[in-house]
Amino acid sequence: MSDSASRDQFGSRIGFILASAGSAVGLGNIWRFPFVAGENGGAAFVLIYLLLVFAIGMPLMLSEFIVGRHGAGNPVASLKRACGKSFAPLGIMGILACLIILSFYAVVGGWTIKYTLDALMGSLGTDVASAGKAFGGFISSPFSVIAFQFLFIAVSFGIVVRGIQGGIEKFCTIFMPVLFVLLVVLAVRSLTLDGAMEGLLFYLKPDFSKVNSAMILSALGQAFFSLSIGVSVMLTYGSYLKKDEPLVGPAFQICLLDSFVAFIAGLVIFPAVFAFGFEPGQGPGLSFVTLPVVFSKMAFGGFFAAIFFFLLVISALTSSMSMLEVVCAWVTGEHGWSRKRATLAVVTVAFLMGVPSAISVGGGLDIAGKSFLDVMDFVASKVMMPIGGIGFALIGGFVVSGFAKEELPERIYSVWRFLCCVVAPVAIGWIFISGLTW
Ligand code: PHE
Repeated sequence: MSDSASRDQFGSRIGFILASAGSAVGLGNIWRFPFVAGENGGAAFVLIYLLLVFAIGMPLMLSEFIVGRHGAGNPVASLKRACGKSFAPLGIMGILACLIILSFYAVVGGWTIKYTLDALMGSLGTDVASAGKAFGGFISSPFSVIAFQFLFIAVSFGIVVRGIQGGIEKFCTIFMPVLFVLLVVLAVRSLTLDGAMEGLLFYLKPDFSKVNSAMILSALGQAFFSLSIGVSVMLTYGSYLKKDEPLVGPAFQICLLDSFVAFIAGLVIFPAVFAFGFEPGQGPGLSFVTLPVVFSKMAFGGFFAAIFFFLLVISALTSSMSMLEVVCAWVTGEHGWSRKRATLAVVTVAFLMGVPSAISVGGGLDIAGKSFLDVMDFVASKVMMPIGGIGFALIGGFVVSGFAKEELPERIYSVWRFLCCVVAPVAIGWIFISGLTW
């Protein structure tokens, strides 16, 4: 079935760039990147990360854009049209992966809404013990976690149902610049605190003795998830791009914006955490337990806390809408449903699929020692994303290279092709095999 007739399109190049950067910039940047960097050699990690983003992430993003633009349809239709019928399963896998990631992303997205509201009402904890208790209490009360998950997914629905130009592009064009400005405001606040230097040193002191295969592997895994690659998000956004738009410049800018946000997030977190003498713990504990307490020690802390959680809400929304769009594009394109009906059906499925994840973080829904949410994350990001990445690398290198030759400047084309044929498949194959420990 064809779905190329009267498809929505991005209205402007900057809208396309901000929407794709919105997909890339997410909880992965603000939560995860600073830690992985702090613990893996600081500036040495940042340098290797940047190299991987541009040498492996960007070529794959280009492959997805090329397939999407040539196929001009949902992932399955585009792959069939641009590459051949036998490539359809790669699209199906991307759609499934987006649905799975969306299901648990909305749970954490709900937490960020709850914390923004708490910050506005001044009801965040002021010491680590009480903040820890409050967070533990919240995530183990299914009713409120599910209510906020519902709210988050309802907002995503409200945006995606308005389409590409009127929904996704409009939201990202307004809120991505807001995100950049607020992030810089927070970084300035954090870096000008007394004692900020110690945090900066922890984050950035280059330690080249930490460069080893495990570190390169975590940089590669982080780059991959952070750029939303391998699961047809970039293919879908590329399919809404006009034929005469350049691809290389935007791909470069998207990778740059994504790396910039991840890097600055570290400049917000560590100087503040160290300035007030806290331990830089990991993951949810840091954002939802330590940081609220850190903010409570600052002048106008409630205001800065609200800005921080609002940033998390925006970054999570712009990512979740991209996953939702991938699945909706498929439902509307392949099954001829209206956008409204398709979006409603997809959010309902994603919401229901997310309920076990929502319940599991409070304990009690473990599978072989991992919470249901972690199992979903494992399946999507450690299994499906790398397989998809290898698929798009090989497609770029061997299947659509003819189209690419016409679309990419000559010099870039040869480098890109080499990266797709050799470097990316080997590197990703390595992440896949080594990263598969439960
Ligand atoms: N890139 C997003 C982040 O860093 C996550 C994401 C993965 C979004 C896959 C879409 C698809 O949080």
